Amino acid sequence: MAFFEWDSIYSVGDEFIDNQHKRLFQIANRFHDAYQAHQARTVLGSIFDELIDYTLLHFKDEEELLRKHNFPEFNQHKRNHEKLIGLVSRYKEQFEQGDEGIEERVLDFLKLWLNGHIMGMDRQYKPYISENSIKTNVRPMQNSQRQSVRLKQANKTR
Ligand SMILES: [Fe+2]
Ligand SMILES: [Fe+2]
Repeated sequence: MAFFEWDSIYSVGDEFIDNQHKRLFQIANRFHDAYQAHQARTVLGSIFDELIDYTLLHFKDEEELLRKHNFPEFNQHKRNHEKLIGLVSRYKEQFEQGDEGIEERVLDFLKLWLNGHIMGMDRQYKPYISENSIKTNVRPMQNSQRQSVRLKQANKTR
């Protein structure tokens, strides 16, 4: 079983973004597995770099999507992304310096980020971007309305 497991509960209702989130989980798992297997620091370092690069790309794509859908909490969401980028760069610095126990702190941070941000903040925009929300926003016709429509149509054909 993977250390970070993506689950449909994490879905934000957009396949493109879900796939990016899944990819983030995969890279985080590779970092975890490499650490567990006592791989060289250069190996861990390059996975870490990949994670940062992919995160920057993902945040950019996600923000573009949220802007397109006029997500009302856009500014707050973007600020949270910036905070995460700030934190991850600080961890990267500590990693480069070879700080003791930094790998575990990075894994704890990844948990907070992947579970916390995606489950908490990312899921908040789900109703704003999912296509289904447009359909469910249209209230179904009441039975009485339906009947009167049918009666009108019947009158027309007479
Ligand atoms: Fe995200
Ligand atoms: Fe996000």
